[in-house]
Amino acid sequence: MSAVRLATSQFATSFASRAAVVASAPGRVNLLGEHTDYNGGPVLPVALERRTAVAAAPSADWRVVSSLDGVVHELDVNAPLRRQWTDYLVGVVRELRSVGAAPPGARVAIASTVPIGAGLSSSAALTVAAAKALALLAGRALTPADLVEVAFRAEHDQVGVRCGRMDQTIAVHAERGTALLIETGVGTMRRVAVPGRLWVVETGVAHALTGGELNVRRLECEQALASCRRWRPGLRHLADLSPGELPDVAARLPSPLIARVRHVVTETARTRDAARRLMAGDLASVGALLSEGHRSLRDEFCSTVPEADFLVEQAGMRGAYGARLTGAGWGGAVVVLAPADREARILAELTRDFGDRFGRVPAAWGTRAAAGARREALPPKER
Ligand code: GLA
Repeated sequence: MSAVRLATSQFATSFASRAAVVASAPGRVNLLGEHTDYNGGPVLPVALERRTAVAAAPSADWRVVSSLDGVVHELDVNAPLRRQWTDYLVGVVRELRSVGAAPPGARVAIASTVPIGAGLSSSAALTVAAAKALALLAGRALTPADLVEVAFRAEHDQVGVRCGRMDQTIAVHAERGTALLIETGVGTMRRVAVPGRLWVVETGVAHALTGGELNVRRLECEQALASCRRWRPGLRHLADLSPGELPDVAARLPSPLIARVRHVVTETARTRDAARRLMAGDLASVGALLSEGHRSLRDEFCSTVPEADFLVEQAGMRGAYGARLTGAGWGGAVVVLAPADREARILAELTRDFGDRFGRVPAAWGTRAAAGARREALPPKER
């Protein structure tokens, strides 16, 4: 069932009435450009066909339910956060208030087909869809830039995950059939056609919702930038260093900061290269860059897990163009780029290989590049 149907029927079940508005936003895979968005570099995400839907109706107070467990939570949006998923919604309400776009209260039902904790940006799908639905309820249409900012601040400032803006940006701006090359240092966006399907294989290793290792890496990158500025005054972002400057970095920075910088600088070059090759339709080269990116995450950024390393290696051996762990890391999912005429066979072999090695069958599915956040029509009354 679609997320929209799930959310509206959950709304009817939990609140014995019909929702007034529904909005949805997609999860994403990042093709390339990992841990570059908070270092001023490029990213190349694609929106998934899997979405999160938020159905809402006006009310004097706040009640929210997820179709995952059907439990209705009463929310005090002024109280300290509770370190649970409802914090994301509270964060959205607070940020909407700060731009005068929050309703006084609402009944809210949430449903999602985006796997949670799989590095597929289920949190941005939630914050973007919620911000869109609640602003509509308040009679306000946010600009796409405002929508990105409200969702980003809900996660970054309120929940405390030190993310960049990639996930919110693709969830808002995605268009069908394309990836988005976002140059985060300057804020430009360029659409790049994505032919065919991308494949996602979930490692089944869930990463924590609230930042943990990501926050540590971000701190390391900030320390590295501060050190680099001692000999490169005026350096704005780590991604502005050229590959030719890496020997200088290696001579001056302590380990493990050298490795973190090496990842950011080489990933920046790889991502721009991958966008060019995708524009030229050269999927084999894009795939090779994906696998190279994975090795850099594994060896330099130290953000992969053995399950993902295994999948990437096997994907190469089974004839895929390339594969890599997508999203923050420390668990999550691998994106696989494979020749269209062989993808079914490659995926079947890959899931079997994984089963033989880890004793369980991983979820694997294909997606085309999908569209960003939108208001959804309310489904007709169920008879
Ligand atoms: C998470 C963050 C993004 C980005 C990635 C790593 O998904 O939300 O902003 O930093 O990790 O590339």
